[in-house]
Amino acid sequence: MKTRTIAVANEKGGVGKTVTVINLGAALSLKQQKVLLVDMDPQANATKGLGVEPEEGAPTVYDILDRESPAKAAEAIVQTAWQGLDLLPSHVDLSGSEVELADVVGRENLLKEALADLPEEYDFVLLDTPPSLSLLTVNVFTYARHVLVPCQTHPYAYAALEELFDTISAVKETINPDISILGIVPTFYDSRTRVSQRILDQLKTDENYRDLVFRTAVRANTTIAESADVCRPVVFYRKGSFGSVDYRNLADELLEKFGILADSTE
Ligand SMILES: Nc1ncnc2c1ncn2[C@@H]1O[C@H](COP(=O)(O)OP(=O)(O)OP(=O)(O)O)[C@@H](O)[C@H]1O
Ligand SMILES: [Mg+2]
Repeated sequence: MKTRTIAVANEKGGVGKTVTVINLGAALSLKQQKVLLVDMDPQANATKGLGVEPEEGAPTVYDILDRESPAKAAEAIVQTAWQGLDLLPSHVDLSGSEVELADVVGRENLLKEALADLPEEYDFVLLDTPPSLSLLTVNVFTYARHVLVPCQTHPYAYAALEELFDTISAVKETINPDISILGIVPTFYDSRTRVSQRILDQLKTDENYRDLVFRTAVRANTTIAESADVCRPVVFYRKGSFGSVDYRNLADELLEKFGILADSTE
């Protein structure tokens, strides 16, 4: 079986990267997929959002990137409260990696090397990234085969897409020829506002983006913020909410893209 590796990335902050990693991952696990989430953001929002608090001294993603005495990925991966959904947690120490690894030769390959040997056969590995093109993000792009881009239906987020696409092209030419953009997920969609509608229309008509835009737009939905507050994916917290429905539809579309039949037992 081939593990699909997907970086969820956008250098713009607050566009829904972490919420997408958590809920797309959770929705895929509901559809009988075995999923590993990798939290590569020192803010550790995905880790906290799943209610995981690594014990004092327990290895995290920070330790698997350690050049001197790296921890094995298997030691750092934890099971979440939900079956089929595992997590490689982040730690605030990760914010020091940029400086600590500055002189390391091959520093962009550390994550790829660390994840080469996973303890289980995962169907999907989804990686959350920080809102910057840091060494951590570059490590994710060196490892991942696909990039999923959440884009807030707002003019600033739309404008920032071009830079991200340029970044991915540069990565493809230099460090990872296999990487490609899997799709753009419109987020914070609100059909009642003209700006949201206009940006969605632009995404669906722009020749650079239209073939990549998912049919599912994730609607702005307060239940998503609420579910983060109680550290549960929205797909488990309120199954009938817009957030839950949208992320489950997104998971169906993703499975379709990979030619996988969704298991209807959820
Ligand atoms: N569809 C949505 N509707 C309402 N609130 C949302 C939605 N998606 C995300 N949020 C909320 O918006 C905030 C930002 O979302 P999120 O943390 O996923 O963005 P991010 O891109 O990961 O941010 P950062 O760049 O800081 O990592 C969070 O408080 C989250 O709960
Ligand atoms: Mg985030």
